[in-house]
Amino acid sequence: MLRIAVTRKIPEAGLELLRDKFELKINPHNRVLRRDELFRFVKGADAVLALLTDKIDDELLRVAGKNLKIVANYAVGFDNVDLAAAKKRRVIVTNTPGVLTEAVAEHSFALLFSVARRIVESDDYLRKGKFKGWEPELLLGRELAGKTIGILGLGRIGSRLAAIAAAFGMKVIYYDRGHRNKELDQKLGSEPVTIRKLLTASDFVSVHVPLTRETRHLIGRRELETMKKTAVLINTARGPVVDEKALAWALKTGVIWGAGLDVFEFEPDITSELKKLSNVVMTPHTASATQEARDAMAVLAAQNIIAVLSGKAPLTPVK
Ligand code: 8YV
Repeated sequence: MLRIAVTRKIPEAGLELLRDKFELKINPHNRVLRRDELFRFVKGADAVLALLTDKIDDELLRVAGKNLKIVANYAVGFDNVDLAAAKKRRVIVTNTPGVLTEAVAEHSFALLFSVARRIVESDDYLRKGKFKGWEPELLLGRELAGKTIGILGLGRIGSRLAAIAAAFGMKVIYYDRGHRNKELDQKLGSEPVTIRKLLTASDFVSVHVPLTRETRHLIGRRELETMKKTAVLINTARGPVVDEKALAWALKTGVIWGAGLDVFEFEPDITSELKKLSNVVMTPHTASATQEARDAMAVLAAQNIIAVLSGKAPLTPVK
């Protein structure tokens, strides 16, 4: 029987597709495997179902051995995988695009709303017993309608967020490596701009680019200084796209107004200054954490494995 190593328990919806067809080995611990554990775990596997928290590099692929045909990443992002090493060893890499688009776009908007209307700060104010009665200027936030949202990276998630924002009466501008999405522009009245224009003109900036050499620290001190003092930054993509120390400084000194973060530069560690600030709302990398999305991600990862191990083309290969 072909062997599949699942590096962390994922929803049953995916596992049940694999259970009777293959010998399924699932990480028994409710935690990320240490590197030495991971090496032992994947040795001899025909397929590895990996998570973004597993570093899949040349050494791991070598240790896994000659049987390995596919690494199915349980994520749309794949910056944890060395694609060149996989190609060299003829290992197919797949991801889970599409099925988490709605979840991540909705979460991005939830963060945006939470920051704009100071929801977490207000909740904390109440719980601490500070609410002594109505006040004319208590916890004033910012409205979305009529404001400009700048979307950095107009892929599936960025495009979906654009539609949600437009439905709330926001003007949408975007930067996607110089590309224009004519169809979206016609539908939403959106407009492609340069990064500089996006940063200077937006009231809300939301990051939706993959993490690559080019996008690491795409938003640093200089970029933050270019933004409006009233602007809000949202990041549900990858932490290192934003220079987190620079962001903490910008939030503390009023260079920008607020931020909503689901991902962090040194995950799971968080720059300690951020935790002291009330103008940042943070979630623990849960943007795709809906039952619907996680089930569908599990199914898609399993379907990719089934296809490849039965000699067919993968559904969603990473090119
Ligand atoms: C997580 C994500 O990977 O898909 C991605 O790239 O960042 C998230 O969906 C997911 O939580 C699975 O680990």
